[in-house]
Amino acid sequence: MSGAGGRTRVAVLISGAGSNMEALARAARDRAFPAEIALVVANRPEAPGLAKAEARKLKTALLDHTTFPSRAAFDGVLHQVLLQEGIDVVCLAGFMRLLTPGFVMSWEGRILNIHPSLLPAFKGRDAIGQALAAGVKITGASVHVVTPDMDSGPIVGQIAVPVLAGDTAETLGRRLQAAEHRLYPQALWLHLSGQQLPAAADDQLISL
Ligand code: GRF
Repeated sequence: MSGAGGRTRVAVLISGAGSNMEALARAARDRAFPAEIALVVANRPEAPGLAKAEARKLKTALLDHTTFPSRAAFDGVLHQVLLQEGIDVVCLAGFMRLLTPGFVMSWEGRILNIHPSLLPAFKGRDAIGQALAAGVKITGASVHVVTPDMDSGPIVGQIAVPVLAGDTAETLGRRLQAAEHRLYPQALWLHLSGQQLPAAADDQLISL
């Protein structure tokens, strides 16, 4: 299933600032990009990314998870919304909610996530704090296929980011986010096309 011009219809799921959603939307403005952002779904009404998506005239849906009786009920409605919108691929971008194994298996191979570490290092919450505590000199970000085990699916692409002397969670976090904004569109492109990254990719960006 694909939209106008044969582009893959992508839904971006967010809970917060939505800067990675914006990076994907910016990339998709290029008609050569193989995906269009057909839907942005937020699970929190106060997510700043929701207003940013609306400002970009993207179609949005709010599924406030606090109004659902269970995780399965939330995922069931999410599944229906994605089907109604003809979504092919789901990109998690700061979506702070675990998806049920049933949902993940229904979308097997079609959900990507971005995580602020070089997986398999520093899975789970506060990956940036974990990297600082470990004293690593290089960290980075990963885009991976989502499987029922958190932060464990096949890696699509990674980007390396140096940890500098005196870095705080804030300074390292800013550097990581800038890298994520380069990585996610290229990893999505790679995942959809099965090709090598475009030649313009910089040498910090590694595809597998
Ligand atoms: C990103 O750093 C991503 O790696 C993590 O959550 C953050 C989301 O940021 N999963 P934003 O909402 O895209 O600005």
